[in-house]
Amino acid sequence: MQTQAEQAGIGDVGWIGSVTYRSEATIKPTATDLERLVAKAKARNRKLGITGMLLYDGGRYLQTLEGPPEALDQIWSSIQRDPRHGAIEVLSQHIVPARLFSGWDMQLYSRSPDQARLAPAPAVSLIPLTDHIAETARLALRGDDSRLNALIGDLVAQGWVSDALVTHLLEPSARALGDAWLADDCTELDLTIGLSMLQLAGHAIHAGSTAETIRKRRYSILLATAPGEPHILGPTLLGDIFTDAGWIVDMAFPDSDEALAKQVRAQHPDAVDIALSDALPRQHALATLRETIEKTRLATADETMVVSVGGRLFAEAAATAQSVGADHARKGAAGTSVRLAWLIEQRRNTAS
Ligand SMILES: Cc1cc2nc3c(=O)[nH]c(=O)nc-3n(C[C@H](O)[C@H](O)[C@H](O)COP(=O)(O)O)c2cc1C
Repeated sequence: MQTQAEQAGIGDVGWIGSVTYRSEATIKPTATDLERLVAKAKARNRKLGITGMLLYDGGRYLQTLEGPPEALDQIWSSIQRDPRHGAIEVLSQHIVPARLFSGWDMQLYSRSPDQARLAPAPAVSLIPLTDHIAETARLALRGDDSRLNALIGDLVAQGWVSDALVTHLLEPSARALGDAWLADDCTELDLTIGLSMLQLAGHAIHAGSTAETIRKRRYSILLATAPGEPHILGPTLLGDIFTDAGWIVDMAFPDSDEALAKQVRAQHPDAVDIALSDALPRQHALATLRETIEKTRLATADETMVVSVGGRLFAEAAATAQSVGADHARKGAAGTSVRLAWLIEQRRNTAS
């Protein structure tokens, strides 16, 4: 008899939901508490086709869950209600093209000394792929998609098959990212971006090509300041990043919504990024930005155009993409080109 996980097609390439959150333990769990929690979680996750990773360190949890959207909603509702933790903060929530943790029904990773025995056994070390874990994790953490893609591309060219790459490179690299977070060597945001990078790499490998599928297609982006915004640092920095990532980049410093709409109409970019100041919170500008985005969307008949926003308000999570009607809010420059390429692909797939 098939489990729900099998019916849900674990290992298949398909769009699945992914949530990453952090929370604080209300009562610090002992090793046995954690062991019980994870044993139950694993059993339920396996039934429902949920995979992921749970990090615990000194009273803090960080968890990534992936799975079919309905099953994920079910588990996620339970977790949110669970009195064993609180101050839950979602770090990322999106649809991903493939699982990162295909073999993990819930891998606990903990650094606290009395819980060391719960840490997973080291990855099989006989194969040279493991030599690339540190580098893969470093590139993912830095959001360096070009080098990450090149590295994976080389390994594919050397004949490594997708299962080996996912099991012996991407999954251990995800653990290395968790390790860096536990050691306070990176922020949750770095971790979230890093995991997304690995997820993308995993998808590209599963799809039978490297992440070059994302790089080789030339996307175009219009990097604009919000009309009237005098601070242009964000778009300027992004210009280099997107150019390096192979995008066709145009800049706009419009003085009105109409001027921006005109440029969008003329250029038909795949994505437009509208930036508020990186230095000052522009709380009062949010309502205006919402209008700008509405008009920008109306300027093109292309419903797949992705709208991204950035600026201090978004970097500090004081505002969300949703609050202004955008598809993506940049927390920082790192990883943005990959995220946007991915959103464009996602929209095109949905539209076709
Ligand atoms: C930090 C944390 C992570 C958890 N992760 C999972 C999980 O991945 N899967 C799961 O089934 N339950 C997980 N649980 C337990 C659920 O919150 C919940 O107790 C369990 O699923 C039973 O659900 P119910 O209370 O709706 O019956 C977790 C709990 C905590 C505190």
